[in-house]
Amino acid sequence: MRELKILGILVFFTLLLYWGVEPYARSKMEKEVAPADFKFSDLKAINYKGDPAKGKQLIVNAGCTGCHGIKAAKMPAPMPADAAAASFGVAPPDLSDAGLIYDEKYLKNFILNPAHAMLTAMKYNAKKPFPMPQFFGVGGDKNKEVSDIVAYLKSIAPKELSDKETFVAACGRCHSVKYDKWSQLGDEPKFKGETDKLAYKLKVSKYLDHLKKYMAATPPDLSIMIRARSKEFLETFIDDPQKLLKNTSMPRVGLTKESTEKVISYLESVGDSKKAERESLIPKVIGYLIIFTLFAYLWKSKLWREVH
Ligand code: HEC
Ligand code: HEC
Repeated sequence: MRELKILGILVFFTLLLYWGVEPYARSKMEKEVAPADFKFSDLKAINYKGDPAKGKQLIVNAGCTGCHGIKAAKMPAPMPADAAAASFGVAPPDLSDAGLIYDEKYLKNFILNPAHAMLTAMKYNAKKPFPMPQFFGVGGDKNKEVSDIVAYLKSIAPKELSDKETFVAACGRCHSVKYDKWSQLGDEPKFKGETDKLAYKLKVSKYLDHLKKYMAATPPDLSIMIRARSKEFLETFIDDPQKLLKNTSMPRVGLTKESTEKVISYLESVGDSKKAERESLIPKVIGYLIIFTLFAYLWKSKLWREVH
């Protein structure tokens, strides 16, 4: 039957457009790059089995808690985020989740030499040092000590985090997500009035001034980043920003594959919240086409019958 063939062709092209052409065009517009491997092969392997009890002591002795809060260990941030940004350019993140979200090898290397691990060492020198000091050890073998610190961070980390919590811990100090009312200072509070709202905005914009000066670029709002950049782009970019944007001031943050996926899934839920709705439309459109064809066919048969 010709009608069925036409229907078949329509269905075929609808599906082709949705699943074939659009993703293909996207992938062509973006540069070909090796996908993320989450291996951190440029960093050295440090294979000591750390002792969390020693790490707990070390993290205080090494001064980490002079800049970082660790809520999971009932240690609040030593300074509010805006004051911290005035001193460091950015608020040092709370370390409660670090043992879960960061790759272990990356984390050890980061503590020993932060800018090197972040791949932003080219921006710093003796005159302009990275705000977090390198860890040279507190008397023993620094590789053992750093393994103890990481073992401790792993021991206090939660077993699991939500997509948003992962985003907040990994990216939230630099990027806002306006569609989800997230600013670098946290979730937007309820305002008592216009003055209250303006005071908050002023605080955020002061934070952004410090951040911009520190990073030499303002980190973009990520609300609709998932529409501008594909999932694959984001995955590779988070794993190694320099691979896609040479000399970008966006640091490598050292997330595991699981945490990277959570961050992307969060950005997807905020920026492309209509995706599920759109996909549920496909069967409806096809159903409509089938019914329409059926009626057209019946109508045609009736017309022909009348003619004969
Ligand atoms: C003088 C303040 C200071 C001290 C001391 C300090 N940090 Fe930091 N730390 C920072 C700042 C600032 C950042 C954020 C830097 C950035 O994002 O560019 C940071 C970032 C981090 C991160 C996030 C890494 C990432 O990839 O995003 C971890 C983990 C961390 N610090 C752990 C530690 C540990 C463990 C110690 C103790 C050995 C420590 N820090 C000591 C200031 C400090
Ligand atoms: C220490 C601050 C900092 C952190 C932490 C950070 N970023 Fe960025 N990010 C930046 C800066 C600065 C830029 C702008 C870079 C530029 O213009 O060169 C940027 C740019 C970006 C871009 C835009 C890239 C493009 O195509 O232009 C994306 C996407 C992004 N970041 C995602 C993330 C995600 C996801 C995380 C968490 C996993 C994260 N960033 C963590 C500072 C940060």
